[in-house]
Amino acid sequence: MDALRIQGGTRLSGTLEVDGSKNAALPAMAAAILSTGEVTLRDIPTLSDIGNMVKLLRELGCEVTGQDRDCTIRTIDASATHARYDIVRTMRASICVLGPLLAARGEARVSMPGGCAIGDRPVDLHLRGLEALGATIELDGGDIIARAKRLRGATIFLGGPFGSTVLGTANVMSAAVLAEGRTVIESAACEPEISGLADMLNAMGANISGAGTPRIEIEGVESLGSVDYRIIPDRIVAGTLAMGVAMTNGEATLTNFPYDNLLAVLDRLNIAGVHVTRTNPEEDPKRCSVHVTSERRLEPVLFTTQPYPGFPTDLQAQMMAIMCLADGNSIVTERIYPDRFLHVSELTRMGATLFRSGPTVVVQGGDQLIGAPVMASDLRGSAALVMAGLVARGETIVQRVYHLDRGYVRLEEQFNALGAGIERFDHNPAESIEAAEIP
Ligand code: EPU
Repeated sequence: MDALRIQGGTRLSGTLEVDGSKNAALPAMAAAILSTGEVTLRDIPTLSDIGNMVKLLRELGCEVTGQDRDCTIRTIDASATHARYDIVRTMRASICVLGPLLAARGEARVSMPGGCAIGDRPVDLHLRGLEALGATIELDGGDIIARAKRLRGATIFLGGPFGSTVLGTANVMSAAVLAEGRTVIESAACEPEISGLADMLNAMGANISGAGTPRIEIEGVESLGSVDYRIIPDRIVAGTLAMGVAMTNGEATLTNFPYDNLLAVLDRLNIAGVHVTRTNPEEDPKRCSVHVTSERRLEPVLFTTQPYPGFPTDLQAQMMAIMCLADGNSIVTERIYPDRFLHVSELTRMGATLFRSGPTVVVQGGDQLIGAPVMASDLRGSAALVMAGLVARGETIVQRVYHLDRGYVRLEEQFNALGAGIERFDHNPAESIEAAEIP
């Protein structure tokens, strides 16, 4: 099992390009099921979750070909409708084939995703939305079975106890594009990944307006055709890289940076003393170059995770890592996944002082973190541990980096390109204990 060995203490500097977004690519790939032609997607990040989606699409009768970061998807057998447990359990985002399969093939059988390390993640809103479009839904043997000869447009409220749902909006919007008549999704997710998906579907012939706002309107069409679409830059990777540079008090240029999609984060970073400035005002603010610098001493901040355009839950752990070095107490409140704090105990092992009470963590900033062996338990928490390792005194070993590899393309190589000292190696703690026990 791969682990990372990090020698802390280098100030990062240089230039890096931000990859295409995983969370935009996954629903875009699933939406290819809706097309009667060829869907070419560019800037797909080479990640394990993307590999799992390719596997799933092939099982569902799609031909997937491609090179580097581009892929082309075409349906060759539209009879397959079953997303099996074996794949869904490795990747919750498999749920985003539910809407496209139902709309394009009249039936979808998708294994119900279970809980995950960051807490309960129900899909009730996805199902409620599809039912409102006229689907019958039943559960059988752990699978969700959705059926409808032709979906009918409807007015659907998609808000839940924690606000809107991103993949739920993607599912209902993708299904409604082929429904008969008009659909209104109220309390839709406003995340840039949803706007990106709507742009792609419109380029295929759909008629969607309002994506990026809480009210999306869709006029159903008979069929969707081919498209060649470039995936938006990954705002979470962009935020992680900027924070990593700032944490080491470094200085770097990041290109393909989705500045306009990160305003809540940039606001908090600015208050903390991290400055992210655009280098060319002529460039598209959603895909531009920025310069990252930071004050030598960082200020504490208060932040609360919220649906877009608020501070994203997917950058909460990384921001907390920075706050461990601020000059005072920061307060972090998690409003999307109240238990998404697996990184707290690991940061504590590295000398951070953190107090958790329910969905809130008080971070008592300090001067230094200390290298230690730590365990990654979820994707974004792992990134926070790598960042902590970059500044810690001595050596940090981050174990189970397969979590990290789900959402970052070789993060160690990206930080190493800026001068970090991170080495990937094969680490088997059980074997080392056994070896030590031999008399
Ligand atoms: N929720 C419900 N019912 C539902 C769906 C969601 O109550 O039917 C709740 C969830 O439990 C959560 C909140 O609503 O409290 C928001 O969940 P959402 O459905 O928006 O999450 P998601 O669509 O399953 C995507 C990202 C996550 C990201 C969240 C929130 C993908 C593949 N995943 O998940 O990304 O945290 O939106 O922004 O797009 C990650 O990349 O590390 C990651 C976890």
